[in-house]
Amino acid sequence: MNTGKIPVGILGATGSVGQKFVELLSDHPWFKISDLAASERNSGKKYKEAVNWIQSTPLSDKIGSIKLKKCEPELDSKILFSALDASVAGEIETEFAKRGYFVISNAKNHRFDPEVPLIIPEVNPDHITLIKNQRTKGAIITNPNCSTIGLTLALKPIQDKFGINKVNVVTMQAISGAGYPGLPSMDIIENVVPYISGEETKMETEPLKILGTYYENGIVNSDMKISAQCNRVPVIDGHTECVQIALDKKTGLDEIIRCWKEFKALPQELNLPSAPMNPILYLSEANYPQPKIHRNVDGGMAVSIGRLRECSIFDFKFVVLSHNTIRGAAGGTILIAELMKAQGYFDGVIC
Ligand SMILES: NC(=O)c1ccc[n+]([C@@H]2O[C@H](COP(=O)([O-])OP(=O)(O)OC[C@H]3O[C@@H](n4cnc5c(N)ncnc54)[C@H](OP(=O)(O)O)[C@@H]3O)[C@@H](O)[C@H]2O)c1
Repeated sequence: MNTGKIPVGILGATGSVGQKFVELLSDHPWFKISDLAASERNSGKKYKEAVNWIQSTPLSDKIGSIKLKKCEPELDSKILFSALDASVAGEIETEFAKRGYFVISNAKNHRFDPEVPLIIPEVNPDHITLIKNQRTKGAIITNPNCSTIGLTLALKPIQDKFGINKVNVVTMQAISGAGYPGLPSMDIIENVVPYISGEETKMETEPLKILGTYYENGIVNSDMKISAQCNRVPVIDGHTECVQIALDKKTGLDEIIRCWKEFKALPQELNLPSAPMNPILYLSEANYPQPKIHRNVDGGMAVSIGRLRECSIFDFKFVVLSHNTIRGAAGGTILIAELMKAQGYFDGVIC
């Protein structure tokens, strides 16, 4: 039956983020899952036999019966979501792009390639144009690191209005951010691990590219200084971040809260299916936001912020919470694809 939907594939479909793609795309108004791919050891198996399904929505028989393919550029769908482990994502994604596929990736490998856009649709949709510099038939587009997304969405409206010169951030990151099955239970129950490999560097560098300025041949990074400390905590989903900022222009608490509350961007204007109505929810209760209560606001696509107050060292401090596998991974990546479809990037590629 022709549903008029665009066929898409998921690379790394069995992992933590891959499953979230399957869940979010199962009933998507524009896209339909056509290809699921994972490592060679699972290829040929039915998806339901290979996956240890940990999502709260039941896996349908239709999707569960799809046979897993190898991550080789012979898939039917030309639009692919990548949830591949970083140890293999780099080469596989490059091969697909050379063969004419559009790969929208969650892996870190290509995020700093100068011709590869690193996109948060509400923050830097104009950077997608960078793909014209990729000398391949297809293209690679990247989604930032999960904790970068929450932080950068919170900074964007303030940066635009008052300028930010310094950021200090301390994270409390969920276990699901480490992939499936993640840390051994004896390492994380009743514990905090004050180290996540590579995470601090990602948080200190990715926002600079995302908040940078697009020019014809590339991006000029923002010159904001960011210092990050990242911790793994015993929470299943939802990254919490304590942030301090120093501004270029003086302002007050009410003005900052207004900036967040009024913030809307292109995905909201275009009414994209996965766009939250308000990308930022400001909560005035003294003990909010909390991962258990707020990670699923607006389908997990909105960022919750609270506890804005003056800071005796920087200018202001606050707390940000975002769902790491939805806004920070699969949901954010699907929103990029929706934006690209709405802007005509997939015209002529599909079906
Ligand atoms: N978890 C998060 O919150 C989060 C957020 C943002 C970004 N990310 C990034 O998203 C990517 C996926 O993360 P995850 O947490 O979902 O990891 P994960 O649970 O470990 O899943 C990794 C996936 O990669 C596949 N894979 C492994 N080796 C492969 C190979 N040689 N060839 C083809 N496929 C292979 C696995 O398939 P098999 O099951 O067949 O081995 C699995 O589907 C990573 O790059 C991660 O850094 C994760």
